[in-house]
Amino acid sequence: MNFDIIAPAALCAAMLSACATPISDAEAERAAVGMLKASFKPQGQAGVDRLNQDEVQALCSRYPNGLPKDLAEKLEKTQLATIRYPASGKLMGDWREGERIAQSGVGKQFNDDPKGPSGGNCYACHRLSPRELSFGTIGPSLYQFGKQRGTGDAVQRYAYGKIYNSEAFSACSNMPRFGHNGILTEEQIAHLVALLLDPDSPVNK
Ligand code: HEC
Repeated sequence: MNFDIIAPAALCAAMLSACATPISDAEAERAAVGMLKASFKPQGQAGVDRLNQDEVQALCSRYPNGLPKDLAEKLEKTQLATIRYPASGKLMGDWREGERIAQSGVGKQFNDDPKGPSGGNCYACHRLSPRELSFGTIGPSLYQFGKQRGTGDAVQRYAYGKIYNSEAFSACSNMPRFGHNGILTEEQIAHLVALLLDPDSPVNK
């Protein structure tokens, strides 16, 4: 950490008990964000603008213990309206492609090709196919998702919409908004829907 860049207010926050007048929450937040931004360097496509929170993130940060019900419902409604379903109406692609996308953590980093396709990195947070032994547990297990939920239109729309914009179904979710933020294309999302729902997918074996 570079101590030259720490504002006096931040030092005050760090040594609150030693300060004659404690700083306000807003000042402490400004100092903390300033410190955070100063400790990152932009490189290639990974700019420090990524540290700027959008409306959803800013609102969720204001309520770290969860949004009040009315605000959560409002947020989900506005996020639901952002979901773009494919013009073809085809929400299920090829599960084999979906498995490759779920496995891949490539994309959006400074050393990735900004034009190349990104992966979904789903296994970082979810169990999907039991063939993959290494997976994260931040999200629930999605093993047998289609077997349990079925493959009808409503389930397809939900799975597609959830991957497109997770916030539409649970406010302040930790899951990235893959379609909304341009990480995955409509076609890639449809392949992931197939991975989750197709009876032939290893997720449903
Ligand atoms: C950073 C962690 C993270 C990543 C990466 C992630 N998810 Fe999630 N996901 C979550 C969390 C947490 C939840 C539960 C909270 C919620 O519903 O938003 C969730 C929920 C879901 C659900 C809803 C489950 C249900 O019971 O209805 C689906 C479907 C899903 N994720 C699919 C995916 C797919 C497909 C990918 C890859 C493109 C992915 N997730 C990547 C964290 C993640």
